[in-house]
Formats: sequence, C-alpha cells, structure tokens
Amino acid sequence: MIASSIPLPQRTPACYASLEREPEFDPARHLALEPPGRVYRLHEFGYGADECAAHASDVAMTSPFRVLSPQGVTALREVGEGFRRLRPPTEGHPDAAYVKPRGAAFSSKFIRDFCACPHLSQFLSAIAGTQLAPHTLPTLAASFVYAPQEVEKTNQGWHLDSLGFALVIMASDPRTLDGGAFEYFRGTIAEAALWAGVGDPAHLRTTIGTFPDFPAERIARVVYPEAGFGLFMQGNLVLHRGEPLRRPAERCVFVPGFIGRDLRFPDPTNWPEIRRWNSPTIRQEFARHKAWRARTRLDGVIDTLPFDGPIESFDAALADVMRELDEARRELSGDASDRS
Ligand SMILES: [Fe+2]
Repeated sequence: MIASSIPLPQRTPACYASLEREPEFDPARHLALEPPGRVYRLHEFGYGADECAAHASDVAMTSPFRVLSPQGVTALREVGEGFRRLRPPTEGHPDAAYVKPRGAAFSSKFIRDFCACPHLSQFLSAIAGTQLAPHTLPTLAASFVYAPQEVEKTNQGWHLDSLGFALVIMASDPRTLDGGAFEYFRGTIAEAALWAGVGDPAHLRTTIGTFPDFPAERIARVVYPEAGFGLFMQGNLVLHRGEPLRRPAERCVFVPGFIGRDLRFPDPTNWPEIRRWNSPTIRQEFARHKAWRARTRLDGVIDTLPFDGPIESFDAALADVMRELDEARRELSGDASDRS
C-alpha cells in the first residue's frame, strides 16, 4: 500500500509571513548528492529481526555525506537568515540547547522546493530501501535548528525524533566549532531507556531529554567535515543529540523530514509530543496527515479487495481506518479541552 506524496502548501497561512526575496532553488546548482560511505542497519544497533521487520526501513543511521554544493550552502544560509528575520514562532525551552523557528516550509518557496525535490526523495529512498516523501506535516518537513548564544544552554539533551526519517544537514561551518558534534547512542531505544533509568522508551520521545550522559564507549561522535554535509537516520529509533558547545559559536542545522509511503507499517508520528509545540497550524497539519493515511488505506480497499472475498475483510479494513480516524479525532478534541 504505497501512498502518493501530498504537496507542501503553496499558500502561506495568515499566521506565517512569506519570505519575499529569496533565491530560486535549482537542484542542478544547489544539490551535490554523494552516497554515504557507511549505512548502519538497525540490527547493528541490536534490534532483533521482529523489530526490524516492523519498520519500512532497516536503516538506523548513515555516516555524513555531501548533500549541498557550495552554492547550495550559500543559498540555504541566505534563506535561513531571511526566515529568522521574519520572526516566526520559535520553539525554545528554558534548559534547551536549541532555538527552532517554526514554519520554514510555509514561509519559504526555496525550502518547499528543496524539500519536495524528487532527486532528493529518490536519493534518500534508495538509502532507506523504501519509498519516502516530504513529511506530510509541513512543520516536520523542514526545521532550522540554531544553537543559543549562551554556551551553558547548548546542552540539547538526548532525545528521539517525533518523526521517522530525518536528514540532518550542517548549514554553518562545523570547522569553527569547539564541541557541537552530532552524537548518537549505539543501541536500541529499549537499551537506552534502561541506561537512562526511565523504563519505558516512550519517555525518551521528548524534544528535550533530561537524561544523564551515556557510557562513552556506546556513543558515536560524528564531526561533519564541512557545511553542506548531512546524515540520514531513523531518528525515532536512534537516541541522539547535538553535543554541547564548549565556547559560543554559530551552529545551524537544517533538517528536512520525510515520511515512509508504505502504509503497511505503523505511523511513527509522535503526536503526544508534537501537540505541545507552539506551531500555530500543527493541529490542522495533523488532521491533514491522518486524512492522507485514511485516503490511501481506503484506496487499498477499493483497489485490492476482491468482490468474491469475505465481507469480513471489507469490514475489518473499514474498521481499521475508522479506528485510526476516531483516535485522531479524540486526540484533537482532547487538545481542545486541554486548552479550554
Ligand atoms: Fe533530533
């Protein structure tokens, strides 16, 4: 059951400003995709065969690889700076290590075109071994993440992502950094939860992990060779963080998010976490995402179930779609009552 990708919004909602003057995204000039030297599989992190089979991709993490040309880096940085000047809603946290202006996919055509570039989706799909599309929640499809200026606030904390697939591109020059590497735990999330003393891996799925340091021998420390390199991961299955900075410096990463199009696998979107974000359109985005999943699964009923098959199969398929939609509606209305 392969879903069609849905377009990123072409109209900027009133709650976001539009970037007026920005470069035109040109994949021939701005992309310089080179395959990663190493792709780490879930089983290398200790995931068992059943756990691997429960996900559309067996990729855990890659080594850094070139994504952007020098012109692409310049254009992305220009867009990122222009976007911040729009003063978008910005996610922060008193103890946080990051500053996350929200809505780049709404405000910037360059970002939309970049994230929706078919060359990029195809390239990452080949690495993942499953078909990917730009994330159906535009807020998850494109995130800029900046280090705060106060060095003592640059401890991001270990966490899992709230989406399946992320491409973490270093937009600033990593050679100027003291600290600020990308770090990840070489192990399963169940094991990480044990080390962190939280028992349930669900507790790792927060934007800010307030966990102690993990044993050094289990941590991989990735230093990007230069701006424009990225690494690709299933960030909901690999505990990771940006290493704290040891002295103040510019550190900016740009993170396009992707979603698996094979809907035989469960939806990894972590709504209980995402619903807390300050993005003004996040609830509408989630409703649209669930509509996309339901439509695809109903198309599956129309296209594949045989007329001479048991009616129970039709009923079970319809019930399954309704269950997911009912749950989504409950979650959305729960938000409404929480806020009232
Ligand atoms: Fe992350």
